Amino acid sequence: AFALSGTAFAQDYPTKPITVVVPFSAGGPTDTVARLVAEAMSQDLGQQVVVQNVGGAGGTLGAGQVATAPNDGYTLLLHHIGMSTAPTLYRSLPYDPLTDFATIGLITSVPMTLVARKDFEPNTLEELLTYIKENGENVTYAHAGIGSASQLCGMLLMEQTETVMTTVPYQGAGPAMTDIIGGQIDMICDQTTNTTTQIQAGEVKAYAVTSPERLTNLPDLPTTKEAGLDLEIGVWHGLYAPAGTDPAIIERLEGSLQKALTNETVVARFAELGTTPVTAAEATPEALTETLTSQIELWRGVIEAAGVYAE
Ligand code: MLT
Repeated sequence: AFALSGTAFAQDYPTKPITVVVPFSAGGPTDTVARLVAEAMSQDLGQQVVVQNVGGAGGTLGAGQVATAPNDGYTLLLHHIGMSTAPTLYRSLPYDPLTDFATIGLITSVPMTLVARKDFEPNTLEELLTYIKENGENVTYAHAGIGSASQLCGMLLMEQTETVMTTVPYQGAGPAMTDIIGGQIDMICDQTTNTTTQIQAGEVKAYAVTSPERLTNLPDLPTTKEAGLDLEIGVWHGLYAPAGTDPAIIERLEGSLQKALTNETVVARFAELGTTPVTAAEATPEALTETLTSQIELWRGVIEAAGVYAE
């Protein structure tokens, strides 16, 4: 007889539904990416892949929960660039993104757009920057907490323009967008997965996109580069499991993720929302580990220069 190794269990994996924690509110950009990928992975794995939204502390609350979850392959984390900024922004982070997780693969990198409530006075990015300079703290800027992409973009914008706005935190960019559309908050820098529909519907006023080139589905929206702003951000997303998860299970999830990223519904919806899935070579543990490692170093330098810390 031979010992029933973990791999034996992995051969049957998954035998029950899988939870994917999204560390922001439902209805936001991370949730949008997660629900598309989870649905496609469900079809491949033959088990429900259920999205669970755990908001708070700029995504670090949800990430911390997965770091200490059982490493049996049934609790995963879908998170973004915030995995690489939190280690610098938080002096007392309850997890280490590089050692408390097993990487599965990259998913997509989403551009960001500077948008405001539709009756906001400025009409161009140049007018917006002048307005912010002149009105500073009277301008309200929404974000999804220290460690979110919207907070990172806002921090860089304020640092670039040497301005200070009044920042208003939310549990996610979903609820923040509701208040911008409602006119309660002036502006946000948010991902195209959450703003494309609103921009096209005229629900918000858009000023620029942080991609190197203009987006095909928002051709009239200039890039920040065109407007002379050095603010290029791609919000990369990755899929993680708790550290110590059986490599055979990681391999099964990696294959399922790669298939999900060629799923025609996923590809088409990503395109409508201004983004594209990564290639199969990037939807790998190695590629995500490499991106996470280099991004932690990159943002440490930028954030320390900006001098912004959570606690
Ligand atoms: C969200 O899903 O709410 C966003 O990713 C929040 C953010 O990072 O700005």
